[in-house]
Amino acid sequence: MTKFAIQTLNAISPVGLQRLDRDVFDVGTDIRRPRAILLRSADLHSVEVPSSLYAVARAGAGTNNIPVDRLAALGVPVFNTPGANANAVKELVIAGMLLAARNLYHAADYTRDLVADKHLSGADLDKQVEAGKKQFAGFELPGKTLGVIGLGAIGVLVANAAQSLGLKVLGYDPAVTVKSAWQLSPQVEQVASVEELLSRSDMITLHVPLVEGTRGLINAQRVALMPEGSVVLNFARGGVVDEAAVLEALDSGHLHAYVNDFPSEAGAIHPKVIALPHLGASTGEAEDNCAVMAVDQLSDYLLHGN
Ligand code: MLT
Repeated sequence: MTKFAIQTLNAISPVGLQRLDRDVFDVGTDIRRPRAILLRSADLHSVEVPSSLYAVARAGAGTNNIPVDRLAALGVPVFNTPGANANAVKELVIAGMLLAARNLYHAADYTRDLVADKHLSGADLDKQVEAGKKQFAGFELPGKTLGVIGLGAIGVLVANAAQSLGLKVLGYDPAVTVKSAWQLSPQVEQVASVEELLSRSDMITLHVPLVEGTRGLINAQRVALMPEGSVVLNFARGGVVDEAAVLEALDSGHLHAYVNDFPSEAGAIHPKVIALPHLGASTGEAEDNCAVMAVDQLSDYLLHGN
């Protein structure tokens, strides 16, 4: 029997791959004429679609690295794994808020330099430690307001978890689903506009896909609505934030910090930017969950057409 050939374009967790019966599926990176492509963040936009292709599956939530419309026109469905990595992203957002509130990222650099300086000891070291305590004094979360833009699987988890830290939480999503509305804590106040959310939030966190309507969503006019000293967290996609506007607001002191999981060179070198290499979904658990969900959808479709 001819096996179904599945080409993997990124490392996919073996916990998912081992669900594919090797008597039925051939899986590998260098497969020709694949029936299916299984990927994580590889960019498919510039890749010619093989005529043998029946389906694409992404072990992740976003599909902006895949030409979904072009594939749909060819009758090739795209599967993704919404929710499968939501807990991992939620935990990193909470860590990002604390990093920004307590200036931990820069304080750790400062301390590393102190320790590395072999000439510093005794009273000199104590003096520098005291200076660090002043320079990196932070703020606490209870009583502050977090605005969550996008109330899908991740946004809902972040909103609910933030409440346990004493934050007042506002949520905005013009197209909130029944499932999300059901899961969202009733204490989260849903507001009618992104402008209202921005003007009332000390910190905002973005959980929207990158589509035409969300590109540059956080622009100069909107940053200006945020209170002095606020924090922007972006674990969605780089394009959702107009980075030049955010960098300008950091320079002027209007924003306290920008936590960005999609660093560009300009952002990564700015002293008030906490830049991460797209780590939101990078935990063993999330990688396993996404791989299992993607593989199961793909094999169901290839074997049973659903
Ligand atoms: C996602 O869209 O869920 C993430 O980009 C997944 C990943 O990091 O691979």
